[in-house]
Amino acid sequence: MPISAEKPPFPAFYDDLDLTLEEIFKRLSDGVRNRRSAFHTPALATVTPQGAPDVRTMVLRGVETSPLTLRFHTDIRSGKVDQVSQNPNGFCEIYDSNCKIQLRLTCRMTVLGDGETAERAWSETRAMSRACYQIETGPGTEIPAPGAAVYAPERLDEGRANFAVLMAEVMKMEWLYLAARGHARARFERGAGDWTGCWLAP
Ligand SMILES: Cc1cc2nc3c(=O)[nH]c(=O)nc-3n(C[C@H](O)[C@H](O)[C@H](O)COP(=O)(O)O)c2cc1C
Repeated sequence: MPISAEKPPFPAFYDDLDLTLEEIFKRLSDGVRNRRSAFHTPALATVTPQGAPDVRTMVLRGVETSPLTLRFHTDIRSGKVDQVSQNPNGFCEIYDSNCKIQLRLTCRMTVLGDGETAERAWSETRAMSRACYQIETGPGTEIPAPGAAVYAPERLDEGRANFAVLMAEVMKMEWLYLAARGHARARFERGAGDWTGCWLAP
């Protein structure tokens, strides 16, 4: 059985680096709004202070194109924020089984607790999401049972103080498109402004 049973016409991006790059930007932008896309929930890896990898699923909240930067929202008390504050190396991975595309992104991470980006992100956050940040017991704290974390809206205002934005600036990208006639693998590296791409043996 071939991995992909795709039939002609093949996607135009298959053997075209410029179109592949376009496809990456398109898929990432679509992932922000499209909850059914795998690009909506990338796996984001960071490095612990001990030098070990740590990875978790995150909702992709925004994409800036110049320079290419992914935006995530999180609790400032979470382990990943501490890790990124000590080591900015991050890595994002997405596999969409519907379109047979894997994307691997080498990133430089930044935490924004305040400032314009964080304020705008918070202002766009819905009440339901805000409630997560009103939990007094910080993420990762041991509790006796599920549901035992203390929810204290009256003490924690709107939860704004616990809200942070994680920015992942993309430095390098690796694309893999699975196809029966031969997988297409490409690498894109960021130069002074533009991306330079090349094909790789899969
Ligand atoms: C589908 C899905 C989406 C998630 N989205 C987020 C998110 O946007 N932000 C976040 O902080 N955690 C999110 N989580 C929880 C994280 O995966 C993780 O468990 C949590 O943030 C603690 O991670 P840390 O201890 O490495 O900081 C999500 C989990 C799942 C399963």
